[in-house]
Amino acid sequence: MAQKEQWGTRIGVILAVAGSAVGLGNFLRFPGQAASNGGGAFMIPYFISLLILGIPLCWAEWTMGRYAGIRGFHSAPGIFSVICRRRGARYFGTLALLIPLIIYMYYVVIEAWCLSYAISYLDGSLMPESNPGDYGEYFNAFVGMGADGSLFQPGHRDFLGILIFTFVLNFFFIYRGVTKGIEAFCRVAMPLMVVLALIVLVRVLTLGSPLPDQPDRNVVGGLGAMWNPNFAKLADPQTWLAASGQIFFSLSVGFGVIVNYASYMRRNDDVALSGLTATSMNEFFEVCLGGMITLPAAFIFLGAASQDMGTFGLGFSALPNVFAHMPGGQIFGFLWFFMLFIAAITSSLSMLQPVIAFFEEGLGLKRHAAAAILGLLAAIGSGFVTWFSKDIKALDTLDFWVGTAAIFVLAMVQAIMYGWVFGIERGHKELHEGSHIRVPFALQIMLKYVTPFYLIVIFCAFCYSNV
Ligand code: PFF
Repeated sequence: MAQKEQWGTRIGVILAVAGSAVGLGNFLRFPGQAASNGGGAFMIPYFISLLILGIPLCWAEWTMGRYAGIRGFHSAPGIFSVICRRRGARYFGTLALLIPLIIYMYYVVIEAWCLSYAISYLDGSLMPESNPGDYGEYFNAFVGMGADGSLFQPGHRDFLGILIFTFVLNFFFIYRGVTKGIEAFCRVAMPLMVVLALIVLVRVLTLGSPLPDQPDRNVVGGLGAMWNPNFAKLADPQTWLAASGQIFFSLSVGFGVIVNYASYMRRNDDVALSGLTATSMNEFFEVCLGGMITLPAAFIFLGAASQDMGTFGLGFSALPNVFAHMPGGQIFGFLWFFMLFIAAITSSLSMLQPVIAFFEEGLGLKRHAAAAILGLLAAIGSGFVTWFSKDIKALDTLDFWVGTAAIFVLAMVQAIMYGWVFGIERGHKELHEGSHIRVPFALQIMLKYVTPFYLIVIFCAFCYSNV
């Protein structure tokens, strides 16, 4: 049996879950997905998915997680077997270990890019004086593996060192444990991120028309690109799939991460309000900060090219232009990418913790042995990913299969497990145990019928349109 770990404070668990949710998904993936799926058209399925999938499944995960946690189970296979007493249930739980772990393998690479960019701002190599050219080209050169066969050719510095540092930092916090590592870090990181992002938001929204020869490329147009719906795109199932995939990815819902975090709560800790608070924080970061910063910047400085920058690439190509137009751009450039780096760490920690919990609980390992073995596995995986991702599109493909497609299956398993096995009456009662708010029973009906139905329809429409 695993050692007993628990969150120290109520705000600590909320910040940890919000920390898991707020990450590169909010600042890079969301703008990238919105730009390549029709801007305003994307926002409609996005909000529908938030209401039908994101919020209900998030509550289901919090509820099941705490329920299983107080019975001594923290890893997804254990949690699933408490919820569903059949033998096969725990095997579905292994999916909830594998998917976050595979995401970690590429996520940590992008995390290290953020740190690299932050350092490049510190030494001035990303400022207009030393880099007057196109930041998209800079980015492509930075991520492209050397055609000459050199292992890591990114940009102008020793990327391998930065990747290793990022890796070790993650494992340092994981090794320190749930309270002293994850919770302590998130309590400092989350407020810091809001302040840094707000500063950059104000700069973007006051840019006006920074390109003298193209007055139409201005902030208002940029906001229009995000909010004006292009209804034709709504007929494309890909838009709906991308929007719901983004909701899952961004909220960290459906991955087995929230069940794991919630399992470290006490019997009477509130889950209803905590879940809603963490979700709202995530949406604030995603729509109000990530979207409103990156999309206008991309519209102004990259124009139509922004649709093609890859899921994670847009922010790296667009934002340096903002800093080039900002007094103190060097320091703000540093702060922005450093903020992304911190946001990414609070998320990547949550991809590792479920596997650690499994190693401790299922294999009886001590924490340091669990961390060491996981470190080795993840390092091999990340090396593999970095080696094979010759360009950013390779990461996009991986991200699509793991971050969007596989997650449909896992989300479906969780919706059925909650709505049909755990039971919505029991779920309703459990959700309100220690709760500070009342959630209408309609939510439970939605979880049982509407959520799985919506998942099936989108998935079938997508498969059908691709055959
Ligand atoms: N929610 C994180 C983000 O938006 O960057 C990414 C993430 C965290 C995905 C945890 C999956 C996961 F299990």
